Amino acid sequence: MTKLLQSAIGNRQLAIENVFSMNSARIEIDLGPRSYPIAIGNNLLPVLGKILRSHGMRQADAFIITNPQVGGLYFDRVRAALEAAEFRRVVRHDIPASEEGKNWDEFSSTCAALLKAFPDTGSVPLVILLGGGVVGDLGGFAAGVFRRGVPFVQMPTTLLAAVDSSVGGKVAVNFGGVKNIMGIFNQPRLVVCDLDLLSTLDPREVRSGTSEIIKYGGVCSASLFEQLERGDLEKLLALDPTVLTDIVAQCVALKARVVEQDEFDKKGIRNVLNFGHTIGHGLELSADYALTHGEAIAIGMIAATRLAVKLGVCPQSFLDRLQKLIERAGLPISFADQPGLFDRVVRAMQMDKKFRDGKNVFVLPTTVGAWQQVENVDWALVHEVVRSVLH
Ligand SMILES: NC(=O)c1ccc[n+]([C@@H]2O[C@H](COP(=O)([O-])OP(=O)(O)OC[C@H]3O[C@@H](n4cnc5c(N)ncnc54)[C@H](O)[C@@H]3O)[C@@H](O)[C@H]2O)c1
Ligand SMILES: [Zn+2]
Repeated sequence: MTKLLQSAIGNRQLAIENVFSMNSARIEIDLGPRSYPIAIGNNLLPVLGKILRSHGMRQADAFIITNPQVGGLYFDRVRAALEAAEFRRVVRHDIPASEEGKNWDEFSSTCAALLKAFPDTGSVPLVILLGGGVVGDLGGFAAGVFRRGVPFVQMPTTLLAAVDSSVGGKVAVNFGGVKNIMGIFNQPRLVVCDLDLLSTLDPREVRSGTSEIIKYGGVCSASLFEQLERGDLEKLLALDPTVLTDIVAQCVALKARVVEQDEFDKKGIRNVLNFGHTIGHGLELSADYALTHGEAIAIGMIAATRLAVKLGVCPQSFLDRLQKLIERAGLPISFADQPGLFDRVVRAMQMDKKFRDGKNVFVLPTTVGAWQQVENVDWALVHEVVRSVLH
């Protein structure tokens, strides 16, 4: 695993220790005073309290944000693990499962629940986000604004959250029909990724997570892309423990290296992670939650790569390879058109926060593992590729 990781990220500084078992990794994200480790492995939930205490978290109380599905499966075990480490009070707060719950009202209810459980400054809880990207994004935002910020830990339970959303500190909710428009940068103190928790995922959610993994390979790491092509994609879909640990660790390391260079998304470097997201986000919100985030991004990557081919910045052969991988992952490459959908997608794209000063901005692949940003693309071409994925 270490060899693969090193080949994926070159000679850059990377701290990985095999701390828990053979199939485990520990990756540090170096953000100065906001640095934190990401522990990836099996059987971490039973020792969660110990892990938190050994990372200096001395809080007496914990506030767990989760949803009925994930909380129903894992909350009791989380509570037992925390109580074993002498957490005094473990309060649970649920938000609805899925993207529909990632909204201002649920954010507000979460803040209200925090205030009700912890009405005075006598006890500042440790907030633990037990769930996928929705819980992580909404919960990290609430933790960041309650009392001007209380410490929080990400405990990702989806493949997508493990490889992407639990790391990097972008936390937000959807608002006014725009994805992630209300939010902040807020880094967790620690990420504890117990891969055993992925075993209860619906296969559709596993497929959805592979979309972000294909994204990393497509624009950040040719070796990861080729590893998926060689057959590890199917092993990943089957949650093969060795391949799963290896690939989650690679993705986290890739994301950590990107975020370290551009934590606050000011230098254009972090934009690489938006491959497929401009059109994908437009589609995700316009399709009335019929698509998961990963599915929308898969379609968005196809549309963006078609745009890159039309603009002459990317060879057709990359588009063919990407499409093959997306199809092998069981992800869609198009979405059933409906009256008004095209207009809604284009409107949502125009409101996207990535578009500044009226200019459109696209992250386009140039070859496997490489990308460039292109601004002010002719809208007619953009419309053409959006139409090409709706039929
Ligand atoms: N902040 C970031 O950097 C970032 C990056 C990528 C994606 N995101 C966001 O992440 C969100 C998507 O996250 P997601 O794909 O994890 O979706 P999700 O959080 O909606 O979870 C998907 C479904 O899986 C269920 N689930 C979660 N864990 C489970 C488990 N272990 N067993 C059984 N069921 C489980 C959930 O209840 C839900 O129904 C989007 O809102 C997207 O915008 C954020
Ligand atoms: Zn994404």
